Amino acid sequence: VTEQTLHHHLLLGWLGLSALVLPLLLSVAAPYGRHARSGWGPVLPARLGWFLMELPALAVVPLCFLVSPRAPGLPELVLLGMWVLHYGHRALVYPLRLHAGSRPMPLTVAAMAFFFNLGNGYLNGRSLAVLAPLYPTAWLLDPRFLSGAALFLAGLALNLHSDSILLGLRRGEDGGYRIPEGGLFRLVSCPNYLGEIVEWSGWALSTFSLPGLSFAAWTVANLLPRALANHRWYRRTFPTYPPERKALLPFVL
Ligand SMILES: NC(=O)c1ccc[n+]([C@@H]2O[C@H](COP(=O)([O-])OP(=O)(O)OC[C@H]3O[C@@H](n4cnc5c(N)ncnc54)[C@H](OP(=O)(O)O)[C@@H]3O)[C@@H](O)[C@H]2O)c1
Repeated sequence: VTEQTLHHHLLLGWLGLSALVLPLLLSVAAPYGRHARSGWGPVLPARLGWFLMELPALAVVPLCFLVSPRAPGLPELVLLGMWVLHYGHRALVYPLRLHAGSRPMPLTVAAMAFFFNLGNGYLNGRSLAVLAPLYPTAWLLDPRFLSGAALFLAGLALNLHSDSILLGLRRGEDGGYRIPEGGLFRLVSCPNYLGEIVEWSGWALSTFSLPGLSFAAWTVANLLPRALANHRWYRRTFPTYPPERKALLPFVL
């Protein structure tokens, strides 16, 4: 079996798995952050957990390029830059920005995310660096690349801005949860998740690839159920929660 065939089969399995994970997470909220509960085994400090579980995503894709027998073209390098921009922040900067009193992360959650990032990094990185044909340089002017990259950057900006608002909420004296205000929080409970979904949908479009599509599908499978769970939690916890606010999609859901 060639790696090309193996990669393709893994990819189809990976896409199928995302369709199973969605209903699973709709019935069981992943037990970290506000949904943390006992019975999920040992925990790690949140900062260490985020760093360890996101590190494979940051490391594996550049590594795929480093060990590749072929030289990347400019489009591959730009796409690699987009990936490193997101994961450089997520693995190295975001953990440091977390409040020191953030809820600890169960080892099981960190381990699942670690293996997800390893698999997702391999599928996307190996495809870009070795297995898929090189993009022609003109791909950088193709409407699919341009609109995908614009979505990626807009999603990244929304994700960063919304996470900054959330991280700022803990600077209060009691250190508890608050109702977030400002930015797209005016319309939805989880604009950070909306930003992340827009970002990886943009990645799917700008790579126009099955690995890109599978990552976007996994992001929806992870974050749509969590946005619904967070929204229900906000409504339960704060009687004055703005009634017009939706969970994830402004005016819709
Ligand atoms: N691509 C993917 O599949 C994927 C999966 C998961 C997460 N992510 C991304 O990772 C980032 C973090 O995700 P997350 O699920 O941890 O987000 P989150 O639940 O919104 O929490 C983000 C941070 O803000 C704090 N926080 C949240 N709501 C708060 C409130 N109302 N008052 C005070 N503090 C609040 C949290 O504290 P606590 O931790 O103590 O609750 C945490 O430190 C997001 O950008 C998300 O998009 C991506």
